[in-house]
Amino acid sequence: MNIEKIIDIAKKRGFIFQSAEIYGGLSGFFDYGPLGTIMKNKIENFWREFFVKSENNIFEISSRTIAPEPVWQASGHLKDFVDPITQCRSCKSMFRADNLIEEATGKFVEGTKADELTKIIKENRIKCPKCKGTLSDVRIFNLMLKTNVGPVEGTNAYLRPETAQGIFTNFKNILNSTRAKLPFGVAQIGISYRNEISPRQWIMRLREFNQMEIEFFFNPKKPEYPNFSEIAKKKLKIVTREEQKKSGKAVEMTAEDAIEKQIIPNQWMVYFMLKELDWYQQLGLPVEVLRHRHMLPEETPHYSKGNFDMEIKFDFGWKEVVGNAYRTDFDLQTHMKHSGKDLAVAEDGEKIVPHVIEPSFGLDRTFYGILLHCFVEDKKRGWDWFKFPAKIAPYIAAVYPLVSKDGLPEKAKEIFNSLKGCFGVFYDEAGSIGKRYARADEIGTNYCITIDYQTLKDNTVTVRDRDSTKQIRVEFKKLPEIIWKLTNKEIEFEKAGKLLKD
Ligand code: GLY
Repeated sequence: MNIEKIIDIAKKRGFIFQSAEIYGGLSGFFDYGPLGTIMKNKIENFWREFFVKSENNIFEISSRTIAPEPVWQASGHLKDFVDPITQCRSCKSMFRADNLIEEATGKFVEGTKADELTKIIKENRIKCPKCKGTLSDVRIFNLMLKTNVGPVEGTNAYLRPETAQGIFTNFKNILNSTRAKLPFGVAQIGISYRNEISPRQWIMRLREFNQMEIEFFFNPKKPEYPNFSEIAKKKLKIVTREEQKKSGKAVEMTAEDAIEKQIIPNQWMVYFMLKELDWYQQLGLPVEVLRHRHMLPEETPHYSKGNFDMEIKFDFGWKEVVGNAYRTDFDLQTHMKHSGKDLAVAEDGEKIVPHVIEPSFGLDRTFYGILLHCFVEDKKRGWDWFKFPAKIAPYIAAVYPLVSKDGLPEKAKEIFNSLKGCFGVFYDEAGSIGKRYARADEIGTNYCITIDYQTLKDNTVTVRDRDSTKQIRVEFKKLPEIIWKLTNKEIEFEKAGKLLKD
């Protein structure tokens, strides 16, 4: 897998740009270009369709990215959202101490106290990886970005490190306005910020990133997912805590086994884990590159009683793309205590502080995974291309006049204008038809519609399939219906029209 090639195409074709590149950029910040933005919006909309609209008890909100200090005091982020850092005494570079130790010794030390990390650095004589200089004692660094709201001294506030807190602080408003009954969920798509010490791996570890989160609230006395029998036999691949100490390999188990053996804390969590596995496959990722991992106690966030990461196999190894946290009533309880407001729910004459399951998706990491696993290095074709599913491809189709003369561009534009409202389509008449096919493939366009001399006679066009490069001839009036059926996999390409010889 050639990630450099993908990064080059992503820049050249307008998927991902380095932010403020003309000024040398800012580490950990990337922008989405024109094609990247279309695709990012499609991924968000598909997520909404799949996780929010398909359920009748999940509500979406949009809260702000800045919140005052008391919110973060209550949530525990001020105290606990920290990483250990060490600085080179010579070149002044900063490093995450646990990562540095892991790279130098192979030992996993995430969650180890600062004093202990300092000792390990000294004992193992670990030096600055850049200049071999001596490293400072380890100290703790808060990952939140601080700001000041208002003139002169202003109010201390922080850029949110997760969208989740906007859901917890609005809990009572959401409950009152929707009149929701437990169990129910609240979803949010938005930007979060973390002042990462060493942003790296392209759009993997960013300082500003996009999240898609659900906080799913349920009565802890009724933790069952009502349709569990329908999913009980479905399978998950989980790297258990036990296996992490041994082979590091994933173990296949059914949903019911995972609950019975108390590997996953409750049925709602299993439900979301299965659902996300399905979603990622629909994004074009093969099941072999997907798995879940039970986080070790020392890596588990302060608010969680148990985390299962969904991981993708990237070019550099397995990495989290979804964090599934059992946040219990941690957040609502702490906000009740700090705000003095009652956030309990009345149910069956009782006051209940709901428990929470949180599936939290990293959108940029998901984007990386899609680009990586949909990339086809194609020597036979002579160019590389992306096999994006139609749901998320920037464009479903391209419209071309075969040549730029004899009235073909006019006819092609007429057809393009009539298709614009039906699905994502672009028009291109520059260069040979072969070059135009290559350009369309390179951005993962599912179909190319070509207008030729026969179109002028009988209003038929050719449609080329990206994946097989086969072509059919169809009446142009039927195109919206045919493309709809093709993208919904209701018909096979070869049967959708008159198949043309290669
Ligand atoms: N809300 C969980 C996370 O951002 O990691």
